[in-house]
Amino acid sequence: MKLLLIPLLAIILSCSVGDATQLVYDTEGHELMSNSSYYILPAEEGGNGSGLVMSYEWRRCNYFVAQVQGKPKDGIPVVFQPSKDSLFSAVAVPLSTDVMITFHINTVCVQFMFWHISDESPSSTASSPPRQHVAAGKDEDADMPFPPTPDMLFRIERHNGETKGYKLVFCGNGTGPCENLGLHAFKGENWLTTSASPLVVAFKKDHRYE
Ligand SMILES: *[C@@H]1O[C@H](CO)[C@@H](O)[C@H](O)[C@H]1NC(C)=O
Ligand SMILES: *[C@@H]1O[C@H](CO)[C@@H](O)[C@H](O)[C@H]1NC(C)=O
Ligand SMILES: *[C@@H]1O[C@H](CO)[C@@H](O)[C@H](O)[C@H]1NC(C)=O
Repeated sequence: MKLLLIPLLAIILSCSVGDATQLVYDTEGHELMSNSSYYILPAEEGGNGSGLVMSYEWRRCNYFVAQVQGKPKDGIPVVFQPSKDSLFSAVAVPLSTDVMITFHINTVCVQFMFWHISDESPSSTASSPPRQHVAAGKDEDADMPFPPTPDMLFRIERHNGETKGYKLVFCGNGTGPCENLGLHAFKGENWLTTSASPLVVAFKKDHRYE
């Protein structure tokens, strides 16, 4: 009995210790920090693929998130902020924890370009449910909700499929299963939507402001 218990305990302990300290790392092997910005790039192209941008302003200061089209480019960097920490604090971003994602870009909109899951779609006809688009920004006179609303909360998870890397998931208000974010090709663009197949990504640090 004792012999059985010890390995079991060791497994339980190593799991709980591991979970508490699991962080996310960038392409340079450094911890992802909430006070830096990062390009979200497809993991399989080794950092040579196309990143994410704001596309199709369907209403002033309201955009959808899509992949850069044409020649591969890094796109627009984002900032990850764990929702349990105060805004603008400098913390390491943990795995599997609610984070807000905001495009690090100056726009004419007063609003931060924060990501949220939207019921709107770039097509005039409703896109086949239950796929939902990732939108950025909000109406000019609307403040960025804080504390964040469930539609603004995403998580970074490890992806250990054929391609190793990370994926982004959306868990809603926590009553249902989390959904992967993946790319959906439509009208000549690859839109970021909730999806059965995740976009496997890597995070490349943006060094422009150092
Ligand atoms: C990325 O692009 C560079 C420059 O074109 C090339 O040297 C490198 O092999 C590419 N890496 C991958 C993983 O494709
Ligand atoms: C982020 O915060 C850490 C810890 O306070 C600090 O070492 C680092 O220089 C900061 N990075 C930037 C880009 O400000
Ligand atoms: C959670 O979200 C689901 C799906 O959007 C909704 O049907 C449900 O009413 C929500 N529950 C709460 C407690 O807000």
